[in-house]
Amino acid sequence: MRPPTRRGLVASALALAACQRVEPASALGLPVPLKSAAPFPVGVAVQAEQLADPLLGGVVASQFSQLTPEWQMKMEYIVEDNGALRFTAPDAIAEFGSRHGLRLFGHTLVWHEQQPKAFVDLDGTRFRQGYANYIGSVVGRYRGRAVGWDVVNEPVAEDGDGWRDCLWSERLGAFEYMRLAFELARAADPAAVLLLNDYNLEYLPAKRTTFLKLAEALLKAGAPLGGLGTQTHLAVDLQPGAITAAIRELASLGLPLHISEMDVSLVRAKGPAELGEEGRARQRALYAEAAHAFITLPPAQRFAMTFWGLRDRDSWLDRIDAADEPLLFDDSARPKPLLATVEAALGT
Ligand code: XIL
Repeated sequence: MRPPTRRGLVASALALAACQRVEPASALGLPVPLKSAAPFPVGVAVQAEQLADPLLGGVVASQFSQLTPEWQMKMEYIVEDNGALRFTAPDAIAEFGSRHGLRLFGHTLVWHEQQPKAFVDLDGTRFRQGYANYIGSVVGRYRGRAVGWDVVNEPVAEDGDGWRDCLWSERLGAFEYMRLAFELARAADPAAVLLLNDYNLEYLPAKRTTFLKLAEALLKAGAPLGGLGTQTHLAVDLQPGAITAAIRELASLGLPLHISEMDVSLVRAKGPAELGEEGRARQRALYAEAAHAFITLPPAQRFAMTFWGLRDRDSWLDRIDAADEPLLFDDSARPKPLLATVEAALGT
């Protein structure tokens, strides 16, 4: 018997491979990993402890391509009462992203909700120096690893009548605290995409108008604004078409857009709780509309689509009402039918 030829071995290997062809999940009616279905980065809000769990970390790494620290990169975690800066958790999240090839998105540098004691105790030039040191230290620490930052979060008044008052506006000036934050972030990282982020931009056209005017003012002032984030925290009472209208108007400046914190509550709707089939149908429709509105943007304007948590039990909304089911994965970290809804809307 003649020894096998190289050509024969190759042919046999190919034949075996053909027999063992693994049907793609989609052909089996299962959702493919979300990051395989989306031609743009898909993100998830996480906490360091979740990533340390092998099951949850595995699902995050397999399904998503971007990480947003849910709260551990905010001042409330980083800025200690004595002014020292703490990075244990955000470093762990950044390291997980580096290890698994996931982008890191920094949330958030300056927010009206965060007014740490260490800053309140500063006055005059020390306040401005502390502000510059904080932004420079945080953005500089993740230079080359954070793809972008929510530099200023939720600056616009809910009724759209101007901007929120906060510690930062009182101490540094209503517009200057925002302009300066972008300038300082750019100085610390020449490459990161620097975004302005807000919520209810689907529900409140007047707020959206003021948000866009603020973005234009920042650009006119020379601020390195590189993108707009629309949080997209929704409830099933949102009118069909509102997401599409918001995305289209927000895209009118030509900047990249980030659906930055999406969830769709079944119970926060005004009026009767919509936990039944009616509510779930509306929830599916809203997720589908958001995915479709986003994928129809020009590719250069599709920064990322981020979901505000992995499992329903991880949602910040769970603390308001544990019956709520706003996210794409169930409490066992298995994909819910909503994941297939999003993938279908993406054309997968
Ligand atoms: C929320 C987190 O999900 C909670 O864990 C935390 O206790 C409070 O902040 N808009 C934002 C997010 O920009 O930072 C908020 O995240 C939700 C609303």
